Amino acid sequence: MRVPGDKSISHRAVMFGAIADGQTRVQGFLDGADCLATRDAFRGMGVAIFQPEATTLEIDGVGTDGLQPPPAAIDLGNSGTSMRLLAGLLAGQPFDSELVGDDSLMRRPMMRVVEPLRSMGARIDCARDGRAPLRIHGGVRLRGMEYAMPVASAQVKSCVLLAGLYAEGETCVIEPGPSRDHTERMLRGFGCEVRTRGKQVSLRGGSRLSGGEVKVPGDLSSAAFALVGASLLPGSDLLIEGVGVNPTRAGILDILRLMGADISEHDRRDYGDEPVADLRVRSASLRGIDIPPELVPLAIDEFPVILVAAACAEGETRLRGAAELRVKESDRIAVMAEGLDRLGIAARATDDGMLIEGGCPRAGEIHSHGDHRIAMAFAMAGMVADGPVTIHDCANVGTSFPGFVSLMRAHGAQMDEVAEA
Ligand code: S3P
Repeated sequence: MRVPGDKSISHRAVMFGAIADGQTRVQGFLDGADCLATRDAFRGMGVAIFQPEATTLEIDGVGTDGLQPPPAAIDLGNSGTSMRLLAGLLAGQPFDSELVGDDSLMRRPMMRVVEPLRSMGARIDCARDGRAPLRIHGGVRLRGMEYAMPVASAQVKSCVLLAGLYAEGETCVIEPGPSRDHTERMLRGFGCEVRTRGKQVSLRGGSRLSGGEVKVPGDLSSAAFALVGASLLPGSDLLIEGVGVNPTRAGILDILRLMGADISEHDRRDYGDEPVADLRVRSASLRGIDIPPELVPLAIDEFPVILVAAACAEGETRLRGAAELRVKESDRIAVMAEGLDRLGIAARATDDGMLIEGGCPRAGEIHSHGDHRIAMAFAMAGMVADGPVTIHDCANVGTSFPGFVSLMRAHGAQMDEVAEA
Protein backbone atom coordinates (compact mmCIF):
# COMPACT_ATOMS: atom_id res chain seq x y z
CA MET A 1 0.00 0.00 0.00
CA ARG A 2 1.06 3.56 -0.62
CA VAL A 3 -0.73 6.34 1.24
CA PRO A 4 -0.99 9.96 0.02
CA GLY A 5 1.69 12.50 0.87
CA ASP A 6 2.10 14.02 4.30
CA LYS A 7 -0.29 16.89 4.88
CA SER A 8 1.91 18.93 7.23
CA ILE A 9 4.92 18.64 4.93
CA SER A 10 2.89 19.39 1.78
CA HIS A 11 1.58 22.65 3.30
CA ARG A 12 5.07 23.74 4.26
CA ALA A 13 6.52 22.82 0.85
CA VAL A 14 4.03 25.19 -0.83
CA MET A 15 4.55 28.01 1.68
CA PHE A 16 8.34 27.88 1.79
CA GLY A 17 8.62 27.24 -1.95
CA ALA A 18 6.45 30.31 -2.59
CA ILE A 19 8.65 32.67 -0.53
CA ALA A 20 11.95 31.09 -1.55
CA ASP A 21 14.27 32.42 -4.23
CA GLY A 22 14.23 30.23 -7.34
CA GLN A 23 12.19 27.20 -8.25
CA THR A 24 10.95 24.46 -5.93
CA ARG A 25 9.79 21.10 -7.22
CA VAL A 26 7.57 19.13 -4.87
CA GLN A 27 7.06 15.42 -5.43
CA GLY A 28 4.54 13.33 -3.52
CA PHE A 29 2.41 16.43 -2.78
CA LEU A 30 -0.89 15.70 -1.03
CA ASP A 31 -3.55 16.58 -3.58
CA GLY A 32 -6.20 16.95 -0.86
CA ALA A 33 -8.48 19.90 -0.23
CA ASP A 34 -6.46 21.32 2.69
CA CYS A 35 -3.18 21.57 0.80
CA LEU A 36 -4.96 22.79 -2.32
CA ALA A 37 -6.32 25.65 -0.20
CA THR A 38 -2.73 26.57 0.66
CA ARG A 39 -1.70 26.29 -3.01
CA ASP A 40 -4.58 28.51 -4.09
CA ALA A 41 -3.82 31.08 -1.40
CA PHE A 42 -0.34 31.59 -2.86
CA ARG A 43 -1.57 31.57 -6.44
CA GLY A 44 -3.88 34.38 -5.32
CA MET A 45 -0.82 36.26 -4.07
CA GLY A 46 0.85 36.11 -7.45
CA VAL A 47 2.95 32.95 -7.13
CA ALA A 48 3.09 30.80 -10.27
CA ILE A 49 2.48 27.20 -9.17
CA PHE A 50 2.28 24.55 -11.88
CA GLN A 51 0.85 21.12 -11.19
CA PRO A 52 1.93 18.91 -14.11
CA GLU A 53 0.43 15.93 -12.28
CA ALA A 54 -1.71 15.64 -9.17
CA THR A 55 1.20 14.96 -6.82
CA THR A 56 3.83 17.22 -8.41
CA LEU A 57 4.13 20.98 -7.98
CA GLU A 58 6.56 23.36 -9.62
CA ILE A 59 6.66 26.60 -7.70
CA ASP A 60 8.35 29.75 -9.01
CA GLY A 61 9.40 31.28 -5.71
CA VAL A 62 8.98 35.05 -5.44
CA GLY A 63 11.37 35.57 -2.51
CA THR A 64 10.41 36.65 1.00
CA ASP A 65 9.40 40.11 -0.26
CA GLY A 66 7.67 39.16 -3.52
CA LEU A 67 4.09 38.28 -2.54
CA GLN A 68 1.30 40.42 -4.03
CA PRO A 69 -1.82 41.56 -2.17
CA PRO A 70 -4.57 38.92 -2.44
CA PRO A 71 -7.57 40.11 -4.47
CA ALA A 72 -10.13 39.01 -1.83
CA ALA A 73 -10.42 37.26 1.52
CA ILE A 74 -8.39 34.04 1.47
CA ASP A 75 -10.67 31.04 2.01
CA LEU A 76 -8.81 28.19 3.68
CA GLY A 77 -11.73 25.76 3.85
CA ASN A 78 -11.27 23.22 6.65
CA SER A 79 -7.52 23.76 7.08
CA GLY A 80 -6.29 24.92 10.48
CA THR A 81 -2.65 24.51 9.45
CA SER A 82 -3.13 26.86 6.50
CA MET A 83 -4.80 29.53 8.62
CA ARG A 84 -2.39 29.47 11.55
CA LEU A 85 0.81 29.33 9.50
CA LEU A 86 -0.40 31.91 6.99
CA ALA A 87 -1.32 34.28 9.83
CA GLY A 88 2.36 34.38 10.80
CA LEU A 89 3.60 34.76 7.26
CA LEU A 90 1.09 37.48 6.38
CA ALA A 91 1.66 39.49 9.58
CA GLY A 92 4.97 40.68 8.13
CA GLN A 93 3.76 41.65 4.63
CA PRO A 94 3.35 45.22 3.38
CA PHE A 95 -0.33 44.57 2.44
CA ASP A 96 -3.57 43.80 4.28
CA SER A 97 -5.18 40.37 4.14
CA GLU A 98 -8.15 38.49 5.56
CA LEU A 99 -8.36 34.78 6.38
CA VAL A 100 -11.65 32.85 6.45
CA GLY A 101 -12.69 29.20 6.32
CA ASP A 102 -15.57 26.75 6.59
CA ASP A 103 -17.88 26.47 9.62
CA SER A 104 -15.48 24.17 11.47
CA LEU A 105 -12.44 26.40 10.90
CA MET A 106 -14.38 29.55 11.85
CA ARG A 107 -15.11 27.91 15.23
CA ARG A 108 -11.51 26.95 16.02
CA PRO A 109 -9.39 28.98 18.48
CA MET A 110 -7.09 31.53 16.85
CA MET A 111 -6.02 33.56 19.89
CA ARG A 112 -3.16 31.13 20.29
CA VAL A 113 -1.60 32.69 17.17
CA VAL A 114 -3.07 36.19 17.40
CA GLU A 115 -1.61 36.85 20.87
CA PRO A 116 2.04 36.06 20.11
CA LEU A 117 1.81 37.85 16.77
CA ARG A 118 0.44 40.96 18.48
CA SER A 119 3.35 40.81 20.95
CA MET A 120 5.67 40.95 17.93
CA GLY A 121 3.91 44.12 16.82
CA ALA A 122 1.42 42.63 14.35
CA ARG A 123 -1.96 44.29 13.91
CA ILE A 124 -4.61 41.60 13.65
CA ASP A 125 -8.35 41.80 14.26
CA CYS A 126 -10.41 38.71 14.94
CA ALA A 127 -13.94 37.96 16.10
CA ARG A 128 -14.46 38.81 19.78
CA ASP A 129 -14.17 35.21 20.97
CA GLY A 130 -10.78 34.78 19.29
CA ARG A 131 -12.12 33.11 16.16
CA ALA A 132 -11.64 33.84 12.46
CA PRO A 133 -12.07 35.88 10.33
CA LEU A 134 -8.56 37.16 10.90
CA ARG A 135 -7.95 40.63 9.45
CA ILE A 136 -4.24 41.23 9.20
CA HIS A 137 -3.01 44.78 8.67
CA GLY A 138 0.17 44.99 6.66
CA GLY A 139 3.00 47.47 6.67
CA VAL A 140 3.94 47.13 10.35
CA ARG A 141 7.43 46.46 11.68
CA LEU A 142 7.60 43.17 13.53
CA ARG A 143 10.02 42.69 16.41
CA GLY A 144 11.67 39.36 17.14
CA MET A 145 10.81 37.95 20.55
CA GLU A 146 11.20 35.03 22.88
CA TYR A 147 7.88 33.22 23.18
CA ALA A 148 7.12 30.47 25.71
CA MET A 149 4.21 28.53 24.20
CA PRO A 150 1.50 27.51 26.68
CA VAL A 151 0.62 24.34 24.68
CA ALA A 152 2.79 22.10 22.53
CA SER A 153 1.59 23.13 19.07
CA ALA A 154 3.53 22.90 15.85
CA GLN A 155 1.08 25.29 14.22
CA VAL A 156 1.73 28.01 16.79
CA LYS A 157 5.49 27.38 16.73
CA SER A 158 5.54 27.54 12.93
CA CYS A 159 3.36 30.66 12.85
CA VAL A 160 5.71 32.54 15.18
CA LEU A 161 8.81 31.35 13.29
CA LEU A 162 7.32 32.45 9.96
CA ALA A 163 6.57 35.88 11.42
CA GLY A 164 10.12 35.80 12.77
CA LEU A 165 11.47 35.64 9.20
CA TYR A 166 9.99 39.13 8.74
CA ALA A 167 10.90 40.50 12.19
CA GLU A 168 13.84 42.53 13.42
CA GLY A 169 16.40 40.47 15.30
CA GLU A 170 15.98 36.98 16.64
CA THR A 171 12.74 35.10 17.28
CA CYS A 172 12.86 32.23 19.73
CA VAL A 173 10.05 29.80 20.55
CA ILE A 174 10.20 27.71 23.72
CA GLU A 175 8.09 24.57 23.58
CA PRO A 176 6.58 23.01 26.71
CA GLY A 177 7.13 19.60 25.09
CA PRO A 178 8.04 18.33 21.63
CA SER A 179 5.73 19.01 18.70
CA ARG A 180 6.25 18.06 15.07
CA ASP A 181 9.40 19.70 13.73
CA HIS A 182 8.75 19.73 9.97
CA THR A 183 9.08 23.52 9.83
CA GLU A 184 12.55 23.48 11.36
CA ARG A 185 13.72 20.63 9.13
CA MET A 186 12.35 22.10 5.92
CA LEU A 187 13.55 25.65 6.63
CA ARG A 188 17.05 24.20 7.08
CA GLY A 189 16.61 22.29 3.83
CA PHE A 190 15.84 25.66 2.20
CA GLY A 191 19.13 27.02 3.54
CA CYS A 192 17.70 29.02 6.43
CA GLU A 193 19.65 28.84 9.67
CA VAL A 194 17.32 27.50 12.37
CA ARG A 195 18.88 26.73 15.75
CA THR A 196 17.41 24.13 18.09
CA ARG A 197 18.69 23.97 21.68
CA GLY A 198 16.66 21.68 23.92
CA LYS A 199 13.15 23.09 23.90
CA GLN A 200 14.15 26.32 22.12
CA VAL A 201 13.94 26.96 18.41
CA SER A 202 15.19 30.23 16.97
CA LEU A 203 15.90 32.02 13.71
CA ARG A 204 16.93 35.51 12.61
CA GLY A 205 14.73 37.95 10.77
CA GLY A 206 15.69 38.73 7.20
CA SER A 207 16.90 35.18 6.47
CA ARG A 208 16.27 34.16 2.89
CA LEU A 209 15.22 30.76 1.59
CA SER A 210 16.47 29.07 -1.53
CA GLY A 211 14.18 26.75 -3.46
CA GLY A 212 15.00 23.17 -4.34
CA GLU A 213 13.59 19.65 -4.39
CA VAL A 214 11.11 18.45 -1.79
CA LYS A 215 10.14 14.78 -1.71
CA VAL A 216 7.11 14.36 0.53
CA PRO A 217 6.89 11.13 2.57
CA GLY A 218 3.63 9.18 2.84
CA ASP A 219 1.51 10.54 5.67
CA LEU A 220 1.84 8.49 8.86
CA SER A 221 -1.48 10.02 9.96
CA SER A 222 -3.13 8.37 6.92
CA ALA A 223 -1.16 5.13 7.29
CA ALA A 224 -2.50 5.04 10.87
CA PHE A 225 -5.91 3.86 9.64
CA ALA A 226 -4.40 0.94 7.78
CA LEU A 227 -2.10 0.14 10.73
CA VAL A 228 -5.12 -0.19 13.00
CA GLY A 229 -7.35 -1.88 10.39
CA ALA A 230 -4.73 -4.53 9.59
CA SER A 231 -3.97 -5.07 13.28
CA LEU A 232 -7.64 -5.74 13.97
CA LEU A 233 -8.55 -7.87 10.92
CA PRO A 234 -7.39 -11.46 11.47
CA GLY A 235 -5.01 -12.78 8.82
CA SER A 236 -3.80 -9.36 7.64
CA ASP A 237 -0.21 -8.79 6.53
CA LEU A 238 0.28 -5.38 4.95
CA LEU A 239 3.36 -3.44 3.83
CA ILE A 240 2.87 0.34 3.68
CA GLU A 241 5.66 1.85 1.64
CA GLY A 242 7.48 5.14 2.06
CA VAL A 243 5.84 6.43 5.24
CA GLY A 244 7.28 9.36 7.21
CA VAL A 245 8.56 8.21 10.60
CA ASN A 246 9.80 11.52 11.98
CA PRO A 247 10.13 10.86 15.74
CA THR A 248 7.99 13.93 16.55
CA ARG A 249 5.13 12.21 14.70
CA ALA A 250 5.70 8.54 15.49
CA GLY A 251 3.79 8.27 18.79
CA ILE A 252 1.17 6.09 17.10
CA LEU A 253 3.77 3.37 16.49
CA ASP A 254 4.79 3.36 20.16
CA ILE A 255 1.19 3.39 21.38
CA LEU A 256 0.04 0.56 19.09
CA ARG A 257 3.10 -1.50 20.00
CA LEU A 258 2.36 -1.01 23.72
CA MET A 259 -1.10 -2.39 22.92
CA GLY A 260 0.50 -5.47 21.38
CA ALA A 261 0.48 -4.53 17.68
CA ASP A 262 2.94 -6.28 15.36
CA ILE A 263 4.52 -3.42 13.37
CA SER A 264 8.04 -3.47 11.99
CA GLU A 265 10.02 -0.81 10.11
CA HIS A 266 12.06 -1.67 7.03
CA ASP A 267 14.44 0.11 4.67
CA ARG A 268 14.84 3.28 6.73
CA ARG A 269 15.96 6.13 4.52
CA ASP A 270 15.61 9.90 4.24
CA TYR A 271 13.51 12.03 1.91
CA GLY A 272 15.49 15.26 2.24
CA ASP A 273 15.48 16.05 5.93
CA GLU A 274 12.67 13.63 6.84
CA PRO A 275 13.13 9.98 7.86
CA VAL A 276 11.01 7.43 5.98
CA ALA A 277 10.44 3.66 6.28
CA ASP A 278 8.26 0.88 4.93
CA LEU A 279 5.92 -0.30 7.67
CA ARG A 280 4.86 -3.94 7.87
CA VAL A 281 1.82 -4.65 10.00
CA ARG A 282 0.36 -8.05 10.78
CA SER A 283 -2.80 -8.74 12.72
CA ALA A 284 -2.40 -9.15 16.45
CA SER A 285 -4.64 -9.21 19.47
CA LEU A 286 -4.56 -5.83 21.14
CA ARG A 287 -4.83 -5.07 24.85
CA GLY A 288 -5.97 -1.92 26.60
CA ILE A 289 -3.29 0.35 28.10
CA ASP A 290 -2.83 3.52 30.09
CA ILE A 291 -1.57 5.75 27.25
CA PRO A 292 1.66 7.46 28.40
CA PRO A 293 0.84 11.21 28.45
CA GLU A 294 4.24 12.09 26.99
CA LEU A 295 3.25 10.28 23.78
CA VAL A 296 0.07 12.33 23.35
CA PRO A 297 1.54 15.32 21.42
CA LEU A 298 3.47 12.87 19.22
CA ALA A 299 0.24 11.16 18.12
CA ILE A 300 -2.22 14.04 18.41
CA ASP A 301 -3.95 13.48 15.05
CA GLU A 302 -4.17 9.71 15.43
CA PHE A 303 -6.41 9.51 18.50
CA PRO A 304 -9.65 8.86 16.64
CA VAL A 305 -8.22 5.63 15.23
CA ILE A 306 -6.22 4.81 18.39
CA LEU A 307 -9.51 4.97 20.32
CA VAL A 308 -11.05 2.58 17.78
CA ALA A 309 -8.12 0.21 18.41
CA ALA A 310 -8.82 0.56 22.14
CA ALA A 311 -12.51 -0.16 21.56
CA CYS A 312 -11.55 -3.51 19.99
CA ALA A 313 -8.80 -4.36 22.50
CA GLU A 314 -9.07 -6.55 25.54
CA GLY A 315 -9.43 -4.57 28.75
CA GLU A 316 -9.49 -0.90 29.61
CA THR A 317 -7.67 1.95 27.85
CA ARG A 318 -7.14 5.28 29.53
CA LEU A 319 -6.28 8.47 27.67
CA ARG A 320 -5.29 11.60 29.63
CA GLY A 321 -3.60 14.90 28.83
CA ALA A 322 -5.33 15.20 25.46
CA ALA A 323 -7.57 18.27 25.96
CA GLU A 324 -6.28 19.59 22.61
CA LEU A 325 -8.49 16.97 20.95
CA ARG A 326 -11.47 19.13 21.88
CA VAL A 327 -10.39 21.89 19.48
CA LYS A 328 -9.51 19.89 16.37
CA GLU A 329 -11.70 19.72 13.25
CA SER A 330 -14.40 18.59 15.69
CA ASP A 331 -14.44 18.05 19.47
CA ARG A 332 -12.80 14.67 19.01
CA ILE A 333 -13.34 13.58 22.62
CA ALA A 334 -17.09 14.19 22.50
CA VAL A 335 -17.56 12.93 18.95
CA MET A 336 -15.56 9.72 19.52
CA ALA A 337 -17.41 8.96 22.78
CA GLU A 338 -20.74 9.48 21.01
CA GLY A 339 -19.76 7.23 18.09
CA LEU A 340 -18.30 4.45 20.23
CA ASP A 341 -21.45 4.48 22.33
CA ARG A 342 -23.51 4.02 19.16
CA LEU A 343 -21.48 0.90 18.40
CA GLY A 344 -22.12 -0.49 21.89
CA ILE A 345 -18.67 0.27 23.33
CA ALA A 346 -18.50 1.66 26.86
CA ALA A 347 -16.57 4.92 26.48
CA ARG A 348 -16.56 7.70 29.07
CA ALA A 349 -15.34 11.11 27.98
CA THR A 350 -13.33 13.13 30.52
CA ASP A 351 -12.18 16.75 30.27
CA ASP A 352 -8.88 15.74 28.73
CA GLY A 353 -9.34 12.21 27.47
CA MET A 354 -11.38 9.04 27.67
CA LEU A 355 -11.82 5.72 29.44
CA ILE A 356 -12.75 2.87 27.12
CA GLU A 357 -13.69 -0.70 27.96
CA GLY A 358 -12.69 -2.78 24.96
CA GLY A 359 -15.19 -5.13 23.34
CA CYS A 360 -16.62 -5.95 19.96
CA PRO A 361 -18.25 -3.06 18.08
CA ARG A 362 -21.81 -3.60 16.92
CA ALA A 363 -23.36 -2.45 13.67
CA GLY A 364 -24.59 1.14 13.81
CA GLU A 365 -24.76 4.64 12.36
CA ILE A 366 -22.11 7.24 13.02
CA HIS A 367 -22.06 10.99 12.47
CA SER A 368 -18.57 12.22 11.66
CA HIS A 369 -19.49 15.87 12.37
CA GLY A 370 -17.64 16.71 9.17
CA ASP A 371 -14.34 15.49 10.65
CA HIS A 372 -12.23 13.49 8.17
CA ARG A 373 -10.32 11.53 10.78
CA ILE A 374 -13.46 10.60 12.72
CA ALA A 375 -15.02 9.22 9.53
CA MET A 376 -11.95 7.15 8.61
CA ALA A 377 -11.46 5.89 12.17
CA PHE A 378 -15.01 4.55 12.31
CA ALA A 379 -14.52 2.95 8.89
CA MET A 380 -11.87 0.79 10.60
CA ALA A 381 -14.36 -0.07 13.36
CA GLY A 382 -16.82 -1.04 10.63
CA MET A 383 -14.39 -3.61 9.24
CA VAL A 384 -14.55 -5.64 12.46
CA ALA A 385 -18.06 -4.83 13.73
CA ASP A 386 -20.70 -7.57 13.87
CA GLY A 387 -22.64 -5.92 11.03
CA PRO A 388 -22.43 -2.88 8.77
CA VAL A 389 -21.37 0.50 10.12
CA THR A 390 -22.70 3.50 8.19
CA ILE A 391 -20.80 6.76 8.55
CA HIS A 392 -22.49 10.02 7.58
CA ASP A 393 -20.97 13.32 6.45
CA CYS A 394 -17.77 11.99 4.89
CA ALA A 395 -17.00 14.62 2.24
CA ASN A 396 -14.09 15.99 4.29
CA VAL A 397 -12.19 12.70 4.01
CA GLY A 398 -10.82 14.34 0.85
CA THR A 399 -9.14 17.06 2.90
CA SER A 400 -6.37 14.65 3.92
CA PHE A 401 -6.91 11.28 2.23
CA PRO A 402 -8.26 11.50 -1.32
CA GLY A 403 -9.06 8.01 -2.61
CA PHE A 404 -9.40 6.53 0.89
CA VAL A 405 -12.27 4.17 0.07
CA SER A 406 -10.83 2.90 -3.21
CA LEU A 407 -7.41 2.34 -1.64
CA MET A 408 -8.88 0.41 1.28
CA ARG A 409 -11.05 -1.62 -1.08
CA ALA A 410 -8.02 -2.42 -3.25
CA HIS A 411 -6.41 -3.95 -0.16
CA GLY A 412 -9.39 -6.08 0.78
CA ALA A 413 -11.65 -3.85 2.86
CA GLN A 414 -15.38 -4.19 2.28
CA MET A 415 -16.34 -0.55 2.10
CA ASP A 416 -18.72 1.36 -0.17
CA GLU A 417 -19.26 5.04 -0.80
CA VAL A 418 -22.92 6.00 -0.87
CA ALA A 419 -24.17 9.36 -2.10
CA GLU A 420 -26.18 11.18 0.56
CA ALA A 421 -29.18 13.30 -0.34
C1 S3P B 1 -0.10 20.41 12.45
C2 S3P B 1 -0.01 20.49 13.82
C3 S3P B 1 -0.99 19.88 14.73
C4 S3P B 1 -1.86 18.86 14.01
C5 S3P B 1 -2.36 19.37 12.68
C6 S3P B 1 -1.18 19.67 11.79
C7 S3P B 1 0.92 21.06 11.63
O1 S3P B 1 -1.83 20.89 15.26
O2 S3P B 1 -2.95 18.50 14.82
O3 S3P B 1 -3.18 18.41 12.06
O4 S3P B 1 1.02 20.74 10.42
O5 S3P B 1 1.68 21.89 12.16
P1 S3P B 1 -1.46 21.69 16.60
O6 S3P B 1 -0.33 22.60 16.28
O7 S3P B 1 -2.71 22.45 16.94
O8 S3P B 1 -1.11 20.67 17.64
